[in-house]
Order: sequence, then C-alpha cells, then structure tokens
Amino acid sequence: MLTEIDHVAIAVADLEAAIDYYRRTYGVEPVHRERIERDGVEEALLPVGSSFVQLLSPIRSDSPVAKFLASRGEGIHHVGFRVESCAAALEQVKGEGHRVVDESPRPGSRGTTIAFVHPREAFGTLIELVEEPSPALSGS
Ligand code: CO
Repeated sequence: MLTEIDHVAIAVADLEAAIDYYRRTYGVEPVHRERIERDGVEEALLPVGSSFVQLLSPIRSDSPVAKFLASRGEGIHHVGFRVESCAAALEQVKGEGHRVVDESPRPGSRGTTIAFVHPREAFGTLIELVEEPSPALSGS
C-alpha cells in the first residue's frame, strides 16, 4: 500500500534560514513553496530523489506546527507515505480500528490528496497518506 516515502516534514522556526541552510550545505533548492492557510503553515519542498524534505514553519500562533515548536522544538514533524489511493489507504487504517486525524481525504499542497493518521496509535509518529496528483508530479 505504501509505494514510497513522499516526504519527511521538518518543523522549523525560520523557513528562510532553513532553506538557506539546505542550499548552502547540500546544494539543494526548493522546487515548490506554498502557504497552506487551513493548516496555518508555509512550506518549502526540497527534492531528494523522487521524495522531498518538506520544511514547515507556522504562519499563525494557533497552527499545529506552532504548538509543536513550542512543546517539542524544531525537528521531524511527520512522515508522508505515498499511496495510490488516499481514500483506500485511509479506509484500511480505520478498518484496522486505528484513530485518524482526518476522517476523509482532503486537499494537500501541490494538488495532492492527503489524510493524517493519529500519532498515538502509530507508535508516536504522525503519518500522512499522500496521493499524488495524476499524472504523478515530481514537485512542480
Ligand atoms: Co506533509
């Protein structure tokens, strides 16, 4: 069901500083940037093979990422697993009796369809199920 790591999301306080770090240290440039009002975040996607590092910083103090930074500090926030069908993957997780954050699939960044699985039932890791827009984009 999980076809690839879509992205590893890293919560950072200063998005520009983090982008600059990756640019200067690893020679990688963002291929996509987006403000996601619903989640209260701004993201920058850095390509790593066919996956991404997703730098996330809050745009509001009530965003979940702001709360994460306040309680846990900067670091890995969630892992996005690529799936063929977000709806089917979500039904599978729910069918196994596990808690989810999103009861049904919703729009993610760059045209993806996503849903989050609750970390408490996933051994402490926030999991995002990511269905690529078709045909699969490599980040633009
Ligand atoms: Co994500």
